[in-house]
Amino acid sequence: MNQDQLKQMVGEAARDEVLKLAPGQVLGIGTGSTANCFIDALAPHKDHFSGTVSSSNFTTERLLKHGFKVLNPNDVAGLPAYVDGADEIDPAGHMIKGGGGALTREKIIASMANQFICICDSSKQVPVLGHFALPVEIIPLAQGVVTRELEKFGGRVSLRLAKAAQEPFVTDNGAWILDVAGLKISDPKSMESQINQIAGVITVGLFAKEKANILLVSNVAGVERVIF
Ligand code: A5P
Repeated sequence: MNQDQLKQMVGEAARDEVLKLAPGQVLGIGTGSTANCFIDALAPHKDHFSGTVSSSNFTTERLLKHGFKVLNPNDVAGLPAYVDGADEIDPAGHMIKGGGGALTREKIIASMANQFICICDSSKQVPVLGHFALPVEIIPLAQGVVTRELEKFGGRVSLRLAKAAQEPFVTDNGAWILDVAGLKISDPKSMESQINQIAGVITVGLFAKEKANILLVSNVAGVERVIF
């Protein structure tokens, strides 16, 4: 079984999970290749939900193509659940996210939801976060000062570049991303709040406050459901 099949399997498990929610509510939907599998699996059941809120322009495009209703988060009071992938998840449900660059909207929508349902294959499970470079979305003019502050955590900081171009990758919010490699994040909550306090940081891709409540994780033996 290859990784695409594992993603598809967990996408289908997430579909079954959200169909247990009472109908007529709004669902939060994340970004990335695993979230895409979930969207495709949910499409035939889209009428179970009155609408969705989306964490990126890419996801919005895919949802609209399938005929989902996509709502402005400002018009939605709360969400029963937010479903999204992760770049890494630790045994307590803390995550690194933002490999696809959508971390800020992902965190906003996660904060609106009663439950974060994380979906991934088992390659994303790690004992300690930090092998995957930690994304930090920043105001472009703060690149220098934020880089120096982030270096104090001991990692190697680099500006994310757009694919096939020597120009900065620009997020849906018109901002830039610094990736911090080589960290060993033993206290994700504390690091999240310390990085959040650096002037010029929009969002850090550490999801400790907004950690997963439920993890659906696929491996060759099937999909495991973990509750945190
Ligand atoms: C997007 O910004 C990310 O947070 C994704 O949720 C994360 O990178 C997981 O993506 P994949 O499902 O493509 O691995």
